[in-house]
Amino acid sequence: METERPHAVCIPYPAQGHINPMMKLAKLLHSKGFHITFVNTEYNSRRLLNSRGPTALDGLPDFCFQTIPDGLPPSDLANCTQHTPSLCKSTMNSCLPHFRGLLTRLNGNREGVPPVSCVVYDAIMSFALDAAEELRVPAVLFWPAGACAFMGVYSYKEAIDRGLFPLRDEETQLRNGYLDTSIDWIPGMPGLRLRDLPTFIRTSTPDDLFMVEFLIRETHRASRASAVILNTFEGLERPVLDAMASILSPSVYTVGPLSVLCGQLPPKSPGATMGSNLWKEDGSCLEWLEGRRPASVVYVNFGSITVISNEQLVEFAWGLAGSGQDFLWVIRSDLVRGDSAVLSDEFLQETRGRGLIASWCPQEAVLAHPAVGGFLTHCGWNSTLESICGGVPMLCWPFFADQQTNCRYACAEWGVGMEVDSNDVRREKLCALIRELITGTRGKEMREKALAWKERAENGAKPGGGSAMNLDNLVEEVLLSGL
Ligand code: UDX
Repeated sequence: METERPHAVCIPYPAQGHINPMMKLAKLLHSKGFHITFVNTEYNSRRLLNSRGPTALDGLPDFCFQTIPDGLPPSDLANCTQHTPSLCKSTMNSCLPHFRGLLTRLNGNREGVPPVSCVVYDAIMSFALDAAEELRVPAVLFWPAGACAFMGVYSYKEAIDRGLFPLRDEETQLRNGYLDTSIDWIPGMPGLRLRDLPTFIRTSTPDDLFMVEFLIRETHRASRASAVILNTFEGLERPVLDAMASILSPSVYTVGPLSVLCGQLPPKSPGATMGSNLWKEDGSCLEWLEGRRPASVVYVNFGSITVISNEQLVEFAWGLAGSGQDFLWVIRSDLVRGDSAVLSDEFLQETRGRGLIASWCPQEAVLAHPAVGGFLTHCGWNSTLESICGGVPMLCWPFFADQQTNCRYACAEWGVGMEVDSNDVRREKLCALIRELITGTRGKEMREKALAWKERAENGAKPGGGSAMNLDNLVEEVLLSGL
């Protein structure tokens, strides 16, 4: 009897930084012979159509898109960052029946669609684990961020047991250097301070209390998964990965950087043009970079969720202006809190000819461009990895969640970043840091380190390299075991 083709249902958490790596993973599985169903929320599906046009979700006969509702009230803001705690709460509470229904429909003997043989779910969408267990197929947890962030949130439980959270008297504790409390008890992560852990533990607002409880629940359910996959590579986080492997019962597979593995697919492979941008890309950025001197441009982008105040926008603007360096600055339509970003005529005059402002860019291509000499980033995990893969050093201005942890690793462990004080952005300090990044000795050293990491990442992604082999092993040992 002919064996059925394997069918993986991939369900990312519905935010840009989670959809992108899941899409890459799905493309890689597709290239290994899997039929793919990629599940977006209805809201994001509309955004994909808005930003990429009517063919965005056409897919292929064996790479199909499906939707489920995210459970939030309807929003007519087509281009808007959703509130993380609300989205986590609503997906946790409302998505399981819809996802279960989708799996049932997929298994309903439709012509050409093989039965679902495995589910690959984002770590914070663990309702999908319940549905996969009911179907008795392997459920693989995908953590799209670093091992350091996983261990950070996994350790929230112990932080509570040790009395570090919830804060008893927030104001006094924060004033008294509470965030500098040494955390030396997380396996594989020596030398941390409380401020280096993912941020939800910093305050006791109802949102943070929920996020801490939610992340403990989600990461501790990981032990039920058939396997755990991370978008990282062994050399980058070895001690943390060893610690993770020792506390989790499922095997841990590092399959990153997914962008590098995916970059090795033939350019004309089916699905090569499928993208996952929720914002419309401004194609002029790459053209603008052409002809600029190598490593001369500072690229500024704070990802898809960060919001800043107007005062911070102004300090960043004058920091860039005062540095004298060329810059490409991506200002998302919803970047500035409560209002749209307005840059003064004076600033625009001052930087004419040496700065480009865009609303969304092809970031990986920008970071791979030889003209880019440094990245002022919020340290989202994808941005951090993409910067390393471009051999580009960073100025780190972490905003929330795992970004503080990533910043710590970029600056203190990997030697590829310098931190900008998150609480106090000042134009004078920024000017000096930007100059150092692009023209200084420290910038040069960090660039060399970034290039060395880039090489290690590329080696791991080549056939026979660590991440490439882990992906093959994951397919053989776990994903095909449901057939
Ligand atoms: C979220 C969290 O905020 C982050 O902390 C976590 O590590 C991942 O999920 P986000 O803040 O959007 O992500 O940042 P990041 O992880 O950097 O992901 C953004 C993605 O959007 C990257 O893949 C980046 O290449 C892409 N992007 C961003 C673009 O393609 N163009 C842009 O202009 C901006």
